[in-house]
Amino acid sequence: MLGLSATAFCCMVFVLIGGVPFSNAQLDPSFYNSTCSNLDSIVRGVLTNVSQSDPRMLGSLIRLHFHDCFVQGCDASILLNDTATIVSEQSAPPNNNSIRGLDVINQIKTAVENACPNTVSCADILALSAEISSDLANGPTWQVPLGRRDSLTANNSLAAQNLPAPTFNLTRLKSNFDNQNLSTTDLVALSGGHTIGRGQCRFFVDRLYNFSNTGNPDSTLNTTYLQTLQAICPNGGPGTNLTDLDPTTPDTFDSNYYSNLQVGKGLFQSDQELFSRNGSDTISIVNSFANNQTLFFENFVASMIKMGNIGVLTGSQGEIRTQCNAVNGNSSGLATVVTKESSEDGMASSF
Ligand SMILES: *[C@@H]1O[C@H](CO)[C@@H](O)[C@H](O)[C@H]1NC(C)=O
Ligand SMILES: *[C@@H]1O[C@H](CO)[C@@H](O)[C@H](O)[C@H]1NC(C)=O
Ligand SMILES: *[C@@H]1O[C@H](CO)[C@@H](O)[C@H](O)[C@H]1NC(C)=O
Ligand SMILES: *[C@@H]1O[C@H](CO)[C@@H](O)[C@H](O)[C@H]1NC(C)=O
Ligand SMILES: *[C@@H]1O[C@H](CO)[C@@H](O)[C@H](O)[C@H]1NC(C)=O
Ligand SMILES: *[C@@H]1O[C@H](CO)[C@@H](O)[C@H](O)[C@H]1NC(C)=O
Ligand SMILES: *[C@@H]1O[C@H](CO)[C@@H](O)[C@H](O)[C@H]1NC(C)=O
Ligand SMILES: *[C@@H]1O[C@H](CO)[C@@H](O)[C@H](O)[C@H]1NC(C)=O
Ligand SMILES: *[C@@H]1O[C@H](CO)[C@@H](O)[C@H](O)[C@H]1NC(C)=O
Ligand SMILES: *[C@@H]1O[C@H](CO)[C@@H](O)[C@H](O)[C@H]1NC(C)=O
Ligand SMILES: *[C@@H]1O[C@H](CO)[C@@H](O)[C@H](O)[C@H]1NC(C)=O
Ligand SMILES: *[C@@H]1O[C@H](CO)[C@@H](O)[C@H](O)[C@H]1NC(C)=O
Repeated sequence: MLGLSATAFCCMVFVLIGGVPFSNAQLDPSFYNSTCSNLDSIVRGVLTNVSQSDPRMLGSLIRLHFHDCFVQGCDASILLNDTATIVSEQSAPPNNNSIRGLDVINQIKTAVENACPNTVSCADILALSAEISSDLANGPTWQVPLGRRDSLTANNSLAAQNLPAPTFNLTRLKSNFDNQNLSTTDLVALSGGHTIGRGQCRFFVDRLYNFSNTGNPDSTLNTTYLQTLQAICPNGGPGTNLTDLDPTTPDTFDSNYYSNLQVGKGLFQSDQELFSRNGSDTISIVNSFANNQTLFFENFVASMIKMGNIGVLTGSQGEIRTQCNAVNGNSSGLATVVTKESSEDGMASSF
């Protein structure tokens, strides 16, 4: 069964790489070839620099694209700040005090605008950054379908509703992915993004001391791993301590995420559920990815491309934002009034 789905994914990738438009998506990896031919190297340059001082950022940027796509599609809605008419997605519980990389995206956008003004969308910068992050962590590479446009709106309540929480059980995880037309194989493959990055204690501390109010730790946790985690995350602590999502090879994109699950070393409940939910159809997928990294990479690529197609705006829909954190022409007229001051000052004075 898995072999069949892997074959189907494989052919879908080939169709996209061949530049033949995918029936329900109008994206194309060569979208900016004539209008911004250095796009890939500009994004890569910034991310190479950033990842040297902050390797965690590579995981953060994959997550940022994911948290964009699950909320009204991959339209950079997550980047919009609060305004009089927009309630930012950034303060929704799944994002509040946990999304990272907004400044890095702005740095990339500035470099891209200098080279190719008013051409490249913030939504495409998010998608490209996710792929280059995978590459820089030694993970798979792929030709990213491009041509997304940026939204004019954000949806805070939809972010709260659509994004899966680290405390979700398998039923709820499947349901959230199904709502985006993503399959169980997509769920398992995309969870493999947790082969890099860090997690905050507050997202899993209940598993260490009082899982589901049972008074005991989560019995699916490896006991030595449990002790390690208890030392990092004291009971009743502030919950902001960080630990590796992949305790084996924390900054290398590989299949160890899945072999960790096989020995009870998934950090979040949402990770371990993929292997420890008795009788689940996800167990054989975890085993196959643990045994065959090539198979994991192929499926990760196919699922990232599928996710990157969710609800995209194309053609004349939406806009190409000049600043990723604001809709064009929505600086409350300050852009025309404030000439020399930074946009930050301009925004502050409008409060
Ligand atoms: C677009 O540019 C990329 C990178 O330079 C290249 O691999 C690809 O073949 C080009 N596509 C087309 C249709 O020219
Ligand atoms: C990367 O950093 C180097 C040295 O710190 C600097 O010269 C270069 O301009 C930076 N490149 C980018 C794209 O930020
Ligand atoms: C977001 O976090 C801040 C603390 O940094 C808190 O004051 C605020 O209530 C949180 N918002 C939501 C919606 O949870
Ligand atoms: C957010 O999405 C929900 C569900 O689709 C919709 O009912 C609501 O109107 C949207 N809110 C905004 C601000 O777009
Ligand atoms: C999964 O979580 C939901 C919501 O908390 C709960 O209603 C459901 O019973 C749980 N399912 C299983 C199989 O534990
Ligand atoms: C999922 O597919 C259905 C049926 O084709 C479609 O109506 C819906 O918009 C899709 N949902 C998303 C999030 O793409
Ligand atoms: C676990 O949580 C429940 C509900 O909050 C509480 O009643 C119980 O005392 C807790 N048990 C332990 C051992 O902390
Ligand atoms: C975690 O947080 C606690 C309390 O803030 C602190 O004492 C401890 O040193 C931290 N542990 C690690 C491993 O960071
Ligand atoms: C717990 O992890 C250790 C390696 O750290 C492994 O040898 C052991 O088999 C694991 N236990 C279980 C129950 O998977
Ligand atoms: C799965 O089944 C085994 C025995 O077959 C049991 O020990 C274990 O607690 C079960 N795990 C879960 C999460 O229900
Ligand atoms: C691993 O997966 C790849 C890609 O599907 C496949 O070509 C290869 O035969 C598999 N290797 C093994 C040892 O099964
Ligand atoms: C968006 O918010 C960030 C953080 O609060 C701030 O640094 C940035 O200047 C804001 N950008 C705009 C365009 O309002």
